[in-house]
Amino acid sequence: MTNKVALVTGAAAGIGRAICHRLSRDGIAIGVLDISGDGAQRVADEVTAAGGKAVGLTADVSNRAEVSAALDTLRQAFGPVTIAVNNAGMTGFVPFMELTEELWDRMLAVNLRSAFTVTQLVLPDMLAASWGRIVNISSSSAQSGAVNMAHYSASKGGMIALTRTLAQEFGEHGITANTIPPRFVHNTEMSLASFERPEMKAKFQAMIDAGPIRRHGEPEDIAGAAAWLVSEEAGYVTGQVIGVNGGRYI
Ligand SMILES: NC(=O)c1ccc[n+]([C@@H]2O[C@H](COP(=O)([O-])OP(=O)(O)OC[C@H]3O[C@@H](n4cnc5c(N)ncnc54)[C@H](O)[C@@H]3O)[C@@H](O)[C@H]2O)c1
Repeated sequence: MTNKVALVTGAAAGIGRAICHRLSRDGIAIGVLDISGDGAQRVADEVTAAGGKAVGLTADVSNRAEVSAALDTLRQAFGPVTIAVNNAGMTGFVPFMELTEELWDRMLAVNLRSAFTVTQLVLPDMLAASWGRIVNISSSSAQSGAVNMAHYSASKGGMIALTRTLAQEFGEHGITANTIPPRFVHNTEMSLASFERPEMKAKFQAMIDAGPIRRHGEPEDIAGAAAWLVSEEAGYVTGQVIGVNGGRYI
């Protein structure tokens, strides 16, 4: 994979950071994109220090102009971008009747419209190469539903549907699109702010104990699946929902 270039969004922390490190180990040059420019640069420096190639990119994924400018920087650094990992996301816990249009719109813009924007902006490189890999990080909440997360779970459900459509529209060009819906992945900013809160610990431990594989997911669990999905070996896999969830959603 040494001639490949990947854009990973939401890459300053958690799952995105782990994906950057894992793809870099396969020789892929990485665009580490995050709304936190310092965080993106920190991860790019980590990847470079480990012997990889990476550039830190600052952009809000809901802002098309910022994403486009970041992609230009990535192309100048390493060439055409034929791997896109749409991982950036936000979460929120609001009872349905208290949701406002503002909260709904922001969630959908960051979690779903971003995947449309990023994918549309990288597709010309993939089409020119007759090769591409799109990996969208959705959520098991899209499969199961999640109380007080209507806007979040709807955004992630949209991502699954988007993935299936991209797979059908671009498969003939050698481009695959797949989605990984994680369940509880700990040691990320998002999990610390949600299910790793002290008052939630007992509840979530009980859910873990009820599942087939009795531990939280690690960011590296998701990164390993993403690395396979972007590899040559996975070229016959498209439009799929690859559950990396310890069997907690079957
Ligand atoms: N952690 C879990 O248990 C879990 C479960 C299901 C799905 N997910 C999904 O996995 C993805 C990564 O989650 P994580 O747990 O690593 O979260 P995280 O909060 O640790 O990391 C998310 C990263 O995205 C960045 N980001 C947020 N909004 C952005 C924006 N507008 N533009 C650019 N960057 C932005 C943040 O700065 C952060 O670095 C998310 O899409 C999340 O919804 C996580």
